[in-house]
Amino acid sequence: MPEIHADAPGRVNLIGEHTDYQDGFVLPCAVPQRTYAALEIRSDSRVRAWSTHVGSNPVEYALGEETRGAGWVDYIQGVTWVLAERGLRLRGFDLRIRSDVPVGSGLASSAALEVATLRAIRTAFDLPLSDVDLAKAAQRAETDFVGAPVGIMDQMASSLAGERDALFLDTRSLQFERIPLPDRLDLVVIDSGVTHQHAGGEYVSRRHESEEAARLLGVARLRDIAIDALPRLAALPPLLARRARHIVTENDRVVRARSALLAGDLATLGHLFNASHASMRDDYEVSVAAVDRLVELATSQRGVFGARLTGGGFGGAVVIAAAGGSASEVASKVQAAYSVVAGRRATILVPAPQEMS
Ligand code: GLA
Repeated sequence: MPEIHADAPGRVNLIGEHTDYQDGFVLPCAVPQRTYAALEIRSDSRVRAWSTHVGSNPVEYALGEETRGAGWVDYIQGVTWVLAERGLRLRGFDLRIRSDVPVGSGLASSAALEVATLRAIRTAFDLPLSDVDLAKAAQRAETDFVGAPVGIMDQMASSLAGERDALFLDTRSLQFERIPLPDRLDLVVIDSGVTHQHAGGEYVSRRHESEEAARLLGVARLRDIAIDALPRLAALPPLLARRARHIVTENDRVVRARSALLAGDLATLGHLFNASHASMRDDYEVSVAAVDRLVELATSQRGVFGARLTGGGFGGAVVIAAAGGSASEVASKVQAAYSVVAGRRATILVPAPQEMS
């Protein structure tokens, strides 16, 4: 059997942050950075996995004996474990992974790894899985096997979004709509150099706070609180009221961002980006000083409609909505200004290096 090749992109979320685990709306699109998987079926039931990131020795395990705690291979083990849970039978395989999606920058490197692996496995074993099925399996691998209680945005984006097609996604029904980005809009993504991880700590505590807010309000999820019901949040303790206000207002901003994109109203899109950042910074408290600085520098550039922290936060990257054709210039200027004021180097992720002029 010939070697099978598959790949999947990282994603940048345009707007709709920390809404997915409360059944809300998100609007991510794919980035040029991708994870590549090359798979060869074996005649036994062993899996051997190599990653160009972590040296030349493979990590090995037997199908059916997946055990958490093996580092990056947990994502692969999670995938084979989920497929077995679904009753899908595999044989062993050798898997070679290569990726240019940076880890810890908020571009969903783990989702790209899961979806690339799942695509290779789907082809190799001819599995009857749709792209939405792949996203669901990838998310389950991460939540139930790896133990990071994430929502489904990243896996849906990696499986279904395009680089110039934002995915407007209802994370409750998983209904989605692909929204083409207008030509007059360029996206810039810049990494602050402060890295995060979501398996523990602050991401989990935000999730718990949002669940507690929903419980006290008597709704299944904060998605069930519409924007005109905001006054209800006054009944919550102040901290939980702020957390809930972020999610309720953010859902409204995603819906309005969808309309703004469809209408080509980039000024409104930019305002929504800025308001989203302020809400993440002040109400949800998932930003850090370095990221706030990047956003301020970005929004003071000519030709920038708006900017915000993208991804789970506590570091990571910003996404900037800039005028069509200005991406390289905006990115270079923000990077240069940041090294002066922050004394730290920011990395331009989009435009990808080969697209920078
Ligand atoms: C991480 C998670 C997503 C989502 C974002 C925040 O990327 O994987 O499910 O919760 O954080 O919007």
